Amino acid sequence: MVLDDSREIARVDTGGMVSLVQRLGPMVAEGWEAAATLRAPSGPLAAVVVCGMGGSGIGGDLLGSLLAESSPVPVLTVKADRLPAFVGRDTLVFVCSYSGNTEETLAAYDAAHHAGASIVAVTSGGTLAQRARERGDPVVTIPPGCQPRAALPYLLMPMLRVTAGVGIARISEADVKEAATLLTDLAGQWGPAARLADNPAKGLAVALRDAMPVIYAASPNMEPVAQRWKTQFNESSKILALWNTFPELTHNDVVGWERVADGPALHVVVLRDQDDGARNSLRVEAASHLAFRGARGVTEVQSVGTSRLARAFSLIMLGDFVSCYLAVLRGVDPTTVAMIDRIKERLQLS
Ligand code: PA5
Repeated sequence: MVLDDSREIARVDTGGMVSLVQRLGPMVAEGWEAAATLRAPSGPLAAVVVCGMGGSGIGGDLLGSLLAESSPVPVLTVKADRLPAFVGRDTLVFVCSYSGNTEETLAAYDAAHHAGASIVAVTSGGTLAQRARERGDPVVTIPPGCQPRAALPYLLMPMLRVTAGVGIARISEADVKEAATLLTDLAGQWGPAARLADNPAKGLAVALRDAMPVIYAASPNMEPVAQRWKTQFNESSKILALWNTFPELTHNDVVGWERVADGPALHVVVLRDQDDGARNSLRVEAASHLAFRGARGVTEVQSVGTSRLARAFSLIMLGDFVSCYLAVLRGVDPTTVAMIDRIKERLQLS
């Protein structure tokens, strides 16, 4: 089997995406350290806004989800070139762009600057780093040289540290350590050296071959993780995928399942977490029996770990591996995102 042949994985994965997924644990610790000496914004805050697109924006979605139960102020991610009218002097704005050159993010940064917001830039360089230094805004500089989506811990962890520093996030050094250690352990269990027969990431990739993945978070806890799985299938495996969240999907998606026999083969992956709650568990069971009958398969995967951070990252790592293995099965390099590059180039000329 190709997935048990390390030379074959290396032949397809020329950009080394699999080894970056294996490094998620160390990256969590490094990303946390990257903001250790950052000057935290002072003064009362009424809101936190994260500006970022694609692989740099998903960190904002995760931040909002991780802070939902502790933050006394709203945490919103803006994936656009403009900001909501409420952004002002009492708003903390994280401007996240891995490259530092994303048009929409730079425009949102300018809008935040003009609104007088407290700004922290998170980037590997580019125009964003340069502009932030000129304006005297703090910059978290993250390592260059990989795809934005592979740098997720470098984008998320500094924001968690800064929000913890101003009393908005409830996250401890112990949570960070747990996540880093757990991910290092899981990298062994799900990495390329673990054979297909004992490796659920490889097994799920095989099950998803020739089907469209439909990723459902069993509760809003893991909503951005479901979105992350979907975007990893898009960018790493080069396929379309769908995502939604319980309980919302029991109010719309389930009706779409009535006629799925007319469309492409669909494979449901349900992301489960210990905090899904009894009612959502019943909804997953009901939808699986009543709605997903037309699916080619339904696979439930369970988060592992203690803290929310560790549990979310455990599912992120699983999805990242699955999307890479599916890319290998399809013979496509997980790293390249030619269509994103072509559209950016075309926009630059306009
Ligand atoms: O995954 C990707 O490559 C994209 O989604 C990018 O993250 C997105 O285009 C924004 O670019 P950047 O992350 O450099 O701001």
